[in-house]
Amino acid sequence: MDSFLIEGGRPLHGEVTISGSKNAILPILAATLLTPDTCRIRGVPDLSDVRFMLQILESLGAETKFERGMVTVRAAKVRGFGDYELIRKMRGSICILGPLLARCCEARVSLPGGCVIGTRPIDLHLKGLRALKARITVEYGYINATTRRLAGTTVFLGGRAGPTVLGTANLMMAATLATGVTVIESAACEPEVTDLANFLVSMGAKIQGIGSPTLTITGVDRLNGTDHEVIPDRIEACTFICAAAATRGEVIIHGARPDHFAAVIDKLREAGVQIERKAGTLRVTRPGKLKPADVTTMPYAGFPTDVQAQFMALMCLAQGTSVITERIFESRFMHVAELMRLGAEIAIEGPNAIVKGGLPLSGAPVMASDLRASAALVIAGLAAKGKTQVHRIYHLDRGYERMEEKLRKLGAKILRVAGE
Ligand code: EPZ
Repeated sequence: MDSFLIEGGRPLHGEVTISGSKNAILPILAATLLTPDTCRIRGVPDLSDVRFMLQILESLGAETKFERGMVTVRAAKVRGFGDYELIRKMRGSICILGPLLARCCEARVSLPGGCVIGTRPIDLHLKGLRALKARITVEYGYINATTRRLAGTTVFLGGRAGPTVLGTANLMMAATLATGVTVIESAACEPEVTDLANFLVSMGAKIQGIGSPTLTITGVDRLNGTDHEVIPDRIEACTFICAAAATRGEVIIHGARPDHFAAVIDKLREAGVQIERKAGTLRVTRPGKLKPADVTTMPYAGFPTDVQAQFMALMCLAQGTSVITERIFESRFMHVAELMRLGAEIAIEGPNAIVKGGLPLSGAPVMASDLRASAALVIAGLAAKGKTQVHRIYHLDRGYERMEEKLRKLGAKILRVAGE
């Protein structure tokens, strides 16, 4: 398993371009199953999760091609049963369930595993699809779903932690080919859900309320192929902003959509980070000392849970105490112990992490546990003095395209060490 070797203490300087959004492209790739025609998607990041999803589509009978950021998919003939090993390995693959049911009236996918950040239930996905008249059983680790034809209805999709992103995606995709009208109440409003909705509309779907908590989908008989450019990855953008601020550098970020992460920009400014919007780019500097800032993660347009770990790494450097509250997932603090190995002082009290910032960070070997925790450890390593080795960065490769190359171009001393 590969690791990153980082020599910290060097301010990041230069320009970086944000790649396409992982959390937008995964459901969009699933949506290509809804039509026998060819779909072309541009601006696709080369990530292991994207390659996994393409393998899953091929195991379902689709033809796929991925060259220079352009993905072509033609799901002329599709079967409802795929490669269970692959499907089980990647949680995001749950969003093939809705399209398969809509297209083939049957689907058999393996239950997605939980992961280190929580149990990751799918009760809301199943509630929504059952409401559309799918018959679903869960046994032997598989979800078996069949339907004569999906039928539109109104369904409230909110759960104990608010809306579900992939649950909304699953139901919206299924509803595009159902009879009648489906109303999804308490739908997720994340930009990635909006990008999927726009992709579906470009295929001929009828969707109203895009970007709002109430989506109204009028079923059609057939969807067509389309061309689409995926939105930039707001989480990657926030990650690079935190890295620039942590190293007290000056970074120009190209290709980001600041309207997709206003809550993060607001918190970063409160902490003393300067973010100037100039002709489609963001200029990030941190002229003075970092100030502590409290954060609670929330559904969109609140502070995103996917930036919680990276922001915590930054608050380790602030002069004072910050309280970071995780309200979306039940155990998304795996990065805390590893940050403490770098010298941070953090106490966990239930959903709160109390970060006593301002202590000097010093390099050490640390272990990545999940995608965003890995990013937090890279940020801390870039700011720490001395050497930090981040092990198991396969987690990071799932969601960040060529991260070490982008950081090296910004002056970081970072090396990918081939797996031990
Ligand atoms: C998506 O996961 C993202 N993944 C996650 O990003 C992101 O953290 C999450 O949305 C929240 O924004 C992809 O888009 C591939 P949820 P998803 O369903 O859809 C509970 C990353 O780092 N819930 O919105 O699986 C759930 O337990 C990843 O890029 C139910 O209770 O998340 C959680 O507490 C990590 N029942 C909350 O809802 C359900 O049926 C939000 O989960 C489904 C979810």
